[in-house]
Amino acid sequence: MEGVTVRFAGLTALDDVSLTVAPGSIHALIGPNGAGKSTCFNVLSGVYQTAAGSVRYGGTELTTLDPHRIAALGIARTFQNIVLTRGTVADNLMLGRHTLTKAGFAATALRLPHTVREQRLHRARVREIAEFTGLGALVDTPVASLPYGHRKRVELARALCMEPRLLLLDEPVAGMNSTERRGMARTITAVREALGISILIVEHDMGMIMRLADEVTVLDFGRRIGGGTPGEVQQDPAVVRAYLGTKEDA
Ligand SMILES: Nc1ncnc2c1ncn2[C@@H]1O[C@H](COP(=O)(O)OP(=O)(O)O)[C@@H](O)[C@H]1O
Ligand SMILES: [Mg+2]
Repeated sequence: MEGVTVRFAGLTALDDVSLTVAPGSIHALIGPNGAGKSTCFNVLSGVYQTAAGSVRYGGTELTTLDPHRIAALGIARTFQNIVLTRGTVADNLMLGRHTLTKAGFAATALRLPHTVREQRLHRARVREIAEFTGLGALVDTPVASLPYGHRKRVELARALCMEPRLLLLDEPVAGMNSTERRGMARTITAVREALGISILIVEHDMGMIMRLADEVTVLDFGRRIGGGTPGEVQQDPAVVRAYLGTKEDA
């Protein structure tokens, strides 16, 4: 993102924000509530229009593309507030596959839509991703009966089913207990290490950011107020003043 500005009727949600996610890295986006973190995600995934600036993925300008096209380029996201209530785990993961097909991104092996063979391949891939995300034993379980921590995992797995190269995670451990948090942190590390997927993550848990992130960008009131390695931002007086010093999100 370069010089991105987003406005809503008088409110500047993002003001000239630049950030770069290095390929294969985990990049954290932090800042107080209302800082513009989710707005960044909505810009990256094509949901919000920018008033100024440029968003490039590889060589492709994203600001003029709709969400389907952006998903097709390999950018998938999870949502801050999950609303998974229907179907089994497998059904929800298949939704990720359908988005992929609808976007015309059917990978080379999945050329023929609506064929039995394609469905079988999708189901096999869904099973693999379920195993990878620790949901292997739960594929036939209705999501409504899963504990919250597992539903957050389904949300992650659904995004992985879109075969992204860049994954946007909006508060993936919010509301989880410490055991669930540690497990999710391990899974996120594995996504980067085993699958080579670049990750942009919004998270309030600073301990987790310190352990996971290669680089951090700090937003406050829509502005980029700092950035660097986790160690650097922790020492930055402006960041401490705006964010780390407060306990509101702890
Ligand atoms: N669709 C929208 N319409 C109007 N205001 C919005 C919209 N989305 C976000 N905002 C405003 O933009 C600011 C940044 O919000 P957001 O990106 O959700 O913050 P964060 O995720 O950092 O908590 C807030 O003041 C929020 O109220
Ligand atoms: Mg948010």
